[in-house]
Amino acid sequence: MYAERVLSGMRPTGRLHLGHYHGVLKNWVKLQAEYPCLFFVADWHALTTAYDDPRVIEESVWDMLVDWLAAGVDPAQATMFIQSRVPEHAELHLLLSMMCPLGWLERVPTYKDQQEKLSDKDLSTYGFLGYPLLQSADILIYRADKVPVGEDQVPHVEFTREVARRFNHLYGREPGFEEKAREAVRKLGSKRAKLYEELRTRFLQDGEETALEQARALLEETQNLSLGDRERLYGHLEGGGKMILAEPDALLTEAARMPGLDGAKMSKSYGNTIFLREDPESITKKIRTMQTDPARVRRTDPGDPEKCPVWQFHQIYSDDATRNWVQQGCRSAGIGCLDCKQPVVEAVLSEQAVMRERAQPYVDDPTLVRNIIADGCERARKLAQETMRDVREAMGLDYG
Ligand code: TRP
Ligand code: SF4
Repeated sequence: MYAERVLSGMRPTGRLHLGHYHGVLKNWVKLQAEYPCLFFVADWHALTTAYDDPRVIEESVWDMLVDWLAAGVDPAQATMFIQSRVPEHAELHLLLSMMCPLGWLERVPTYKDQQEKLSDKDLSTYGFLGYPLLQSADILIYRADKVPVGEDQVPHVEFTREVARRFNHLYGREPGFEEKAREAVRKLGSKRAKLYEELRTRFLQDGEETALEQARALLEETQNLSLGDRERLYGHLEGGGKMILAEPDALLTEAARMPGLDGAKMSKSYGNTIFLREDPESITKKIRTMQTDPARVRRTDPGDPEKCPVWQFHQIYSDDATRNWVQQGCRSAGIGCLDCKQPVVEAVLSEQAVMRERAQPYVDDPTLVRNIIADGCERARKLAQETMRDVREAMGLDYG
């Protein structure tokens, strides 16, 4: 019912590395060509865990934006902005907090997980508990229907759907809603109206999700409905009122296949990363000193690529010919490990060369980035303000 729209955010908590590039940014670059996209820096989310040292956030924000641009995020296609520069996110978060049951927040799996993982920090704060709700506000304020995220974030998108449903249920009831909805059903014409009612009953009474999908498809293909009637019919379907906030879907990003230098997942906390725009000598050194199959003590000892993190890099960076050369050469001790690493060094360096080149103008003239963001914030803010008008009106807060 609303235009398709993709939204995603990233917390500015330090420099980005190849894991972010292969896991997230490449996917954003693909999406920006297919949908209207909004990508933003979630600086308030970073504050939930870095409240005692907000400096890191400030340093990371602009570097991260340059990394996005370096990776190919294109401000001519996607809207790039900073969360805290669109204060409407905070207003929606506040309003949603009034109706969000505490138990819902306490049950979000990341809440306890992260508290345990970051046990050196006191995360028994109001802000940290509300992390998923702030994320819901980020999503709902743009009526985004697609949210590309990794697996760990799927519960937050699910949570957002529940928040939207509850909001619509509580505030989507205009005076005389039932009557108006029945009137809208009649306008579908007798055949469609009958099918609509049938599907609605099957969903509401028997919880049949497929019936809900069919009914939605029916509305989608029905033309000449007014926007108001259309919204009433969507809302009525689920037993609620008018649909004011749209329920988003997670677009599951394939698990980042990028291994770290030690073969474990690439992550800053493991110290096994190659950063974006890292200098070539340092990258070369990191790869040349990577661990290999421990069985290859001497050059003449044969090895097994399956036991070697360098092989995982070949799987990302090398073509079939090179991979065959590795398999053969390693198992027969025909090549040394430094020989084997050379094509990886070259592939990583040339990937980075492209990124450096894209980043250079922004590094030379930081006002370019500031302008892109000023522009993005303005565009984002317009959309956010529209939603907030509807939200205030629905809640009866437009008396001011
Ligand atoms: N919580 C997300 C993460 O840690 C970042 C984020 C904040 C986000 N708001 C969002 C992602 C809205 C998608 C949509 O990765
Ligand atoms: Fe690893 Fe290559 Fe050495 Fe084999 S030859 S152990 S795959 S680095």
